[in-house]
Amino acid sequence: MPKKIILDVDPGHDDAIAILLAQGNPDIELAAITSVAGNQILEKTTYNAQRVATLVGATDIPIAAGAKYPLMREQITDGEVVAGSVHGVSGLDGPELPEPAMDLDPRHAAELIVDLVMAGEQDEYTLVPTGPLTNIVLAMRLEPKIVDRVKEVVLMGGAYTQGNATPAAEFNILADPEAAAAVFAAEWQVTMVGLDLTHQAVATPEIKERIRAIGTPISRVVVEWLDFFGANYDSVWKMPYPPIHDACAVARVINPSVVQVKEAFIAVETQGKWTYGETVTDFLGSYGLPFNNLAATTLDFDAFWDLIIDAIKQVS
Ligand code: BDR
Ligand code: CA
Repeated sequence: MPKKIILDVDPGHDDAIAILLAQGNPDIELAAITSVAGNQILEKTTYNAQRVATLVGATDIPIAAGAKYPLMREQITDGEVVAGSVHGVSGLDGPELPEPAMDLDPRHAAELIVDLVMAGEQDEYTLVPTGPLTNIVLAMRLEPKIVDRVKEVVLMGGAYTQGNATPAAEFNILADPEAAAAVFAAEWQVTMVGLDLTHQAVATPEIKERIRAIGTPISRVVVEWLDFFGANYDSVWKMPYPPIHDACAVARVINPSVVQVKEAFIAVETQGKWTYGETVTDFLGSYGLPFNNLAATTLDFDAFWDLIIDAIKQVS
């Protein structure tokens, strides 16, 4: 039985590859896509989600727009561009994409999440957020029962060693730390697929060559995404190859052995002057608090890229 996921995204090049992976893997049923402001303003991330869903053939599932702004903090912006330095002015710069082949679902993302989860069986849905956690906390507040009902939350965000938006904080968490704090503290299992893990998922020249060799229009789009994203990663973070963060969360749901985890107590810092948005991760039990969540530690690089390459072939 394929595992049902609701993908909450802010595309974003790596969000786009996460959508592709979810759509192209036989062990996943992509039940819905919800969008949130993050890498760009909501209008752009929603449009990008629709265009990517159209590209990969995910045209018969609900797609709903969610939160325009974080819960409490001011939106991280640089003029209109949010994470423009990495994902470009559109939020998904690079190759041309098809116009959306579907209308938006009229519900708010949080309503759609609640409707699906509550109409489903116990443990039927896994939530996979790959942007700021605003929609997830809104859904929790709209219907607290979803916390018991979803199987788990497997999110891209956070880091236990070092951030990327600040030395302490990863972008998705820093974009809405109060939402993230509530999501990590809730009584469901959160798997944090953070930077420590995702920085292992880099698109090396050999990987790009394997994707190029698929030789389909979609494989060409993916190579161009990697080129655009990769060039910016190099200039902004001095990383020679771009990490495909968000697809790692989907890979964890597909096959847990691809993304190994360790139990930990994880909390989000919402007060610190220098550490706002840090995902404080206690593997040793120093705080004496129960290990409430999981932190991803080790990627099976070859198995991860095999999943991506198979998915590209599948949707092509
Ligand atoms: C996260 O931030 C965004 O720019 C990416 O899409 C990813 O979700 C990495 O820090
Ligand atoms: Ca993202």
